[in-house]
Amino acid sequence: MSSRKSLASWKALEAHAKDMKPRHLKELFAQDAQRFDKFSRQLPNVFFDYSKNQIDDNTQALLLDLARECDIESWRDKMFAGDKINITEGRAVLHSALRCQSSAPVLLDGHNVKQDVAAELAKIEEFVGRVRRGDWKGYSGKSIRDVVCIGIGGSNLGPLMVTEALNSYSDGTLNIHYVSNVDGVQVADVLRPLHPESTMFVVSSKTFTTSETMTNAHTAQKWLQAATDCPDASAQHFVAVSTNITAAVSFGVAEENIFTMWDWVGGRFSLWSAIGLPIALFLGFSQFKELLEGACEMDQHFCEAPLEQNGPLLLAMVGVWNGNFLGHQAHALLPYDQSLHRLPAYMQQAEMESNGKSTDFDGNVVDYQTGALIWGEVGINGQHAFYQFMHQGTTIVPADFIGSVEPVEAIEGHHDTLMANYFAQMEALMNGVDAGEIRADLTAKGKTEAEIATLIPHKIHRGNRPTNALLMEKITPRSLGSLIALYESKIFVQGIIWNICSFDQWGVELGKVMATKILPELANDAITGAHDSSTVGLINRYKKNKNA
Ligand code: F6P
Repeated sequence: MSSRKSLASWKALEAHAKDMKPRHLKELFAQDAQRFDKFSRQLPNVFFDYSKNQIDDNTQALLLDLARECDIESWRDKMFAGDKINITEGRAVLHSALRCQSSAPVLLDGHNVKQDVAAELAKIEEFVGRVRRGDWKGYSGKSIRDVVCIGIGGSNLGPLMVTEALNSYSDGTLNIHYVSNVDGVQVADVLRPLHPESTMFVVSSKTFTTSETMTNAHTAQKWLQAATDCPDASAQHFVAVSTNITAAVSFGVAEENIFTMWDWVGGRFSLWSAIGLPIALFLGFSQFKELLEGACEMDQHFCEAPLEQNGPLLLAMVGVWNGNFLGHQAHALLPYDQSLHRLPAYMQQAEMESNGKSTDFDGNVVDYQTGALIWGEVGINGQHAFYQFMHQGTTIVPADFIGSVEPVEAIEGHHDTLMANYFAQMEALMNGVDAGEIRADLTAKGKTEAEIATLIPHKIHRGNRPTNALLMEKITPRSLGSLIALYESKIFVQGIIWNICSFDQWGVELGKVMATKILPELANDAITGAHDSSTVGLINRYKKNKNA
């Protein structure tokens, strides 16, 4: 069995990490006046500074050696060319083709998928225009005002994150709502203020079998039917995005109102496909197109830039360095932009569903760490919640700080205050504060020697906590497209370095199958499945109290 750990570059990085670990970032900056220029890159629509990582020239060179030794460029080219690199499902991975702006064909089994993409985009554009102009009428002849998007996971998080991020670009033609949780409280809350005659439902499910989505869709259908005895109401108020046309039709969606996607689009990479329909409805087609263009610019950069200039590659390799060689197991995403408040949740799925794997391409259990534990929150709120842990906790959490030069809402005094925190937190995480500085501060404040001695150990921040800065000019459809594509390619690169298949999600299936088995046991008297005593005890308690 050959492991990535046996590669010469991996071994060299392990040896090099022993030298780098004791070196403080403060020292690395003091020794190299060029450090910021050396370790920052202007990428399409995003500036990337990775200088506040425990790296030096040698680290970067060795990381690039590792990328080359893992054949990263040829894997990248295979992915973009439509090779079936999702080996466990026998599928190509072509979300890049959904946003590709060039006229060059992308052939999959001899068929140019770009033709299909163009046809679907044209259908989306026509439909979106009709709904937004008010030409699409509901059962009573009224135009649509509210769109309720029903879907979960990759069929929800992308559109939700993007429409939240670009909310200020909406012209208010349509209101958008999302239902993902099968907990009835969400669908009830969303539907309560809405009027059936002016509400449209977009049911997004690649498979059209996902139980949460189908349960919510049936509830929405009942809600609509309760308002009218019009036999065509469902067809006038429901559209679907799915690869399963038969199931969508039998649900009650008119065939011409089903938007399709393909098995070569993974759920968590699907917002560029018809899964992005809510985005186009909310913002208008031209802004959706700009989002695609921004992503395409980043793809082009990823395909063309040499490795030492390549943003997605460098972002990925710095993550590999922090995880595999410095031993950091988590990674935080901290947007300093309220509009990106769903980005951490979105990236959590994208990264953790992709690279939360422990079997390599050859079927061996890996003997190294793969995907990091991804978590995060809008940075400024995080500061008043978990940053204590980030600064002084025993677990070091490398973090991406995402901000923009221009605010989405320019209200005097706000953005500079926000961004002062953005810069300050990264600096504080890096530099920390030592005993001498604390002593000087407390002395100036008139503290006694005894008080100073007590406080010093509690106030010490050791610093040396790595961060990346991602700085955009402004959140726009284009820059957001570039940012998401940057992360998508980072995920791909890391998957190749770890020799794992980033594009399947078998780990999600097991729980789904077991829930399907337990569901009838909640309705019937008997528990028929072979469960452990804890599961039986909990189910029995639930049933007893439910029926009490
Ligand atoms: O969470 C698992 C998953 O399979 C995701 O990959 C997918 O995005 C989501 O469920 C929803 O699946 P579907 O689009 O088929 O409803």
